[in-house]
Amino acid sequence: MKSNEIREKFLRFYESKGHTIVPSSSLVPGNDPTLLFTNSGMVQFKDVFLGQDKRPYTRATSSQRSVRAGGKHNDLENVGYTARHHTFFEMLGNFSFGDYFKRDAINFAWELLTGVYGLPKEKLWVTVYQEDDEAYDIWANEVGVPKERIIRIGDNKGARYASDNFWQMADTGPCGPCTEIFYDHGADIWGGPPGSPEEDGDRYIEIWNLVFMQFNRDEAGVLHPLPRPCVDTGMGLERIAAVLQHVHSNYEIDLFQSLIAAAQKAVHVAGGEAAIDAASLKVIADHIRACAFLIVDGVIPGNEGRGYVLRRIVRRAIRHGYKLGARTPFFNTLVSALVAEMGEAYPELARAEQRVTDILRLEEERFFETIAHGMEILDGALAGLPAGGVLDGDLAFKLHDTYGFPLDLTADVCRERELNVDEAGFDAAMTRQRDQARAAGKFHMATALVYEGPQTRFEGYDRMAVEANVVALYRDGVAVNELKAGEAGVVVLDQTPFYAESGGQVGDNGVLKSVHGEFLVEDTQKIQPQVFGHHGTLREGALTVGNSVQASVNVVDRERTMRNHSATHLMHKALREVLGEHVQQKGSLVDAEKTRFDFAHNAPMSSEQICAVEDIVNREIMRNLPSEAREMGIEDAQRLGAMMLFGEKYGDTVRVLDIGTSRELCGGTHVSRTGDIGLFTIIAESGVAAGVRRIEALTGDYALAAVQFRRQALNEIAGLVKCKPAEAPTRIAAVLEGIKVQEKEVARLQSKLAAAQGGDLAGQAQTVNGVSVLAVKLEGVSGSALRETLDQLKDQLKSAVIVLGVAEGEKVSVIAGVTADLTSRFKAGELVNFVAGQVGGKGGGRPDMAQAGGTQPANLASALASVNAWVAER
Ligand code: ALA
Repeated sequence: MKSNEIREKFLRFYESKGHTIVPSSSLVPGNDPTLLFTNSGMVQFKDVFLGQDKRPYTRATSSQRSVRAGGKHNDLENVGYTARHHTFFEMLGNFSFGDYFKRDAINFAWELLTGVYGLPKEKLWVTVYQEDDEAYDIWANEVGVPKERIIRIGDNKGARYASDNFWQMADTGPCGPCTEIFYDHGADIWGGPPGSPEEDGDRYIEIWNLVFMQFNRDEAGVLHPLPRPCVDTGMGLERIAAVLQHVHSNYEIDLFQSLIAAAQKAVHVAGGEAAIDAASLKVIADHIRACAFLIVDGVIPGNEGRGYVLRRIVRRAIRHGYKLGARTPFFNTLVSALVAEMGEAYPELARAEQRVTDILRLEEERFFETIAHGMEILDGALAGLPAGGVLDGDLAFKLHDTYGFPLDLTADVCRERELNVDEAGFDAAMTRQRDQARAAGKFHMATALVYEGPQTRFEGYDRMAVEANVVALYRDGVAVNELKAGEAGVVVLDQTPFYAESGGQVGDNGVLKSVHGEFLVEDTQKIQPQVFGHHGTLREGALTVGNSVQASVNVVDRERTMRNHSATHLMHKALREVLGEHVQQKGSLVDAEKTRFDFAHNAPMSSEQICAVEDIVNREIMRNLPSEAREMGIEDAQRLGAMMLFGEKYGDTVRVLDIGTSRELCGGTHVSRTGDIGLFTIIAESGVAAGVRRIEALTGDYALAAVQFRRQALNEIAGLVKCKPAEAPTRIAAVLEGIKVQEKEVARLQSKLAAAQGGDLAGQAQTVNGVSVLAVKLEGVSGSALRETLDQLKDQLKSAVIVLGVAEGEKVSVIAGVTADLTSRFKAGELVNFVAGQVGGKGGGRPDMAQAGGTQPANLASALASVNAWVAER
């Protein structure tokens, strides 16, 4: 039975049992910062288990794409070394949301395995959680599995509920006891039943896990009962396919065989050997699935978070190709083979084929620039190590930092040679570098300010000015009691309307006024998460700890910044609408002048798309909708569907900002109605990294100024070409066309002129030792016409040595020609260099024609005069 058929039969079986077939969700869990990647079928139903979300069905079935790399469930290191580990796999599952429980779950599974798939009953073993008598009973007495093939497994992983038979999604979230079904691959394979000392062997393989979801685990590790017990099952498609295709390793199933063959071919095309190391091919075949699907779901290779996990997987695959001899990009070419295998079951993959290929190719090209050098260094270092030795952590870090070798790639190479890496040393080197970078960073933060005192109360959401007290002062990074006129420093207040830079929005500027002095605030930065430092200079008087001040934000700048920030939210939403859901924020900078927004997207935006985004945002502005900020628990925010960024550290309480139809987590300051933004216009769109685009946009008075500036420029252009502004493009195209025609005419006249000069020139040839020699300087001939003139002179003189020179400004062009009958005696290349050498240049060419440039026009005449002597000497 082919993999595609197994998948199909599974879904149909559960459909016949009243389950709704639900498509696989994205590998990037929506709005769930607790999870790196979707690691099983239940992830998209997490909130349904928790009772926080309702669906129109209580039974569901799916084939879920899953990744177990880099997170709680991480198999990356083992891929290629075992028969069953994958970074990417498909999980077949059925789910009950408070509908059926243990009895039906077990009976359905048994019916599918032994009935639909036709597996022999005597080959199946099961495990149950130690305390789960109910499940034991169903297996033993209802299904009729002999007791010697039902094994109870307790808390075998060192803590309460830490067990092979107690499943949990992540450190927090839904969890519960499980029962697992194993397949016995036969006595000729080493291994023992689960729970036995030989359980790690390959004979008894877990194929299906039925989880009885009963609890929600909180951050303190406490289990709370779910509103209603649920069922979550997961069967790896690759494993069941291996069983049904009578092969032992997942890599031998139809799907992987095709991918391995494609990998072999791709590596070979890229310079690799034909006879090939199977382990490396498995790694490549596994990794193309993870990488392609991660990109389909909007992840882009990068230096942090999910992007870095993707980069690690891509680079690990490339390294294995490199090991097999590939010296040029090959990995991206596997996407089409993957689409052929899986595109039907996952149409989103087929649709994204080109985008995925492009992103992988860029990443691959980049790594191929450094891999050879890095491998040379690594090979050198490893060659010097004794058996079982340890690679120096500093060197591993250098490979990471300079050659882009992720630590696990280096570790993978070491493992192949039975060596280890000093990971602690690597971490230490990394920390050292981070600290140095931080110290060299913002001048404000050059020294961390020591502060122990109350937190700053931020009043700036509602007010632009407040009365406040100075609680600390710093000069040159050191706490002081007083600042004097002219001194620069940092002021901490008990409360402030000044926004401190965060979330992409710059810090406020403004002024702190007291009866004693006036402090100009240039910037506001956080000293600690809740302590704001006002950076600036004391303009006059003095400022002392304890003074009370009137703290006033520069309202003009702040209002501009708020417009830009609010517009950024509307734009983010509009981009997803116009370009697709894969658009994710990758960075942003909002200040008074503009908003700069980086986001995941692989192609330049067309001008239609740019207009569409502008249209949507301006429409939202015209609707003049209110904005509203609410504080709430992170889980409530998630439930409300607020957009959040993975990798951001959100506290338990978050601020949800609604503006227009956008809803995002945001601590920034915003306009109170969309209409306050006035006008929104995009002024630039460009690429900043592979798969990341950048938009710069303006709002309010800046947007108006940009429109006016452009109108002005267009009017001037129209004036210059004497037409109406709207006609300028056509008019300019016509002017340019006219110039082209004229350039052609000039070239034609020039060669005519050269030809005319040639006629006169032939008469100037002199005879040196019986050889006709012509060495002259031409006027009014462009360097490019020299060649034509030379050919004409050769024709006229029949047998001659000719040198022509021309000076155009500071540039000299020289051409030498020798007719065929004389090339055995005189070489044009030597002659041209002889002449060019005297005008500060050199050149080259064939024996009958050679050209050179030079930089000393003043010497051209004497250089040409020396040609007769050169000929005479030969
Ligand atoms: N969620 C369960 C697993 O992944 C079924 O094993």
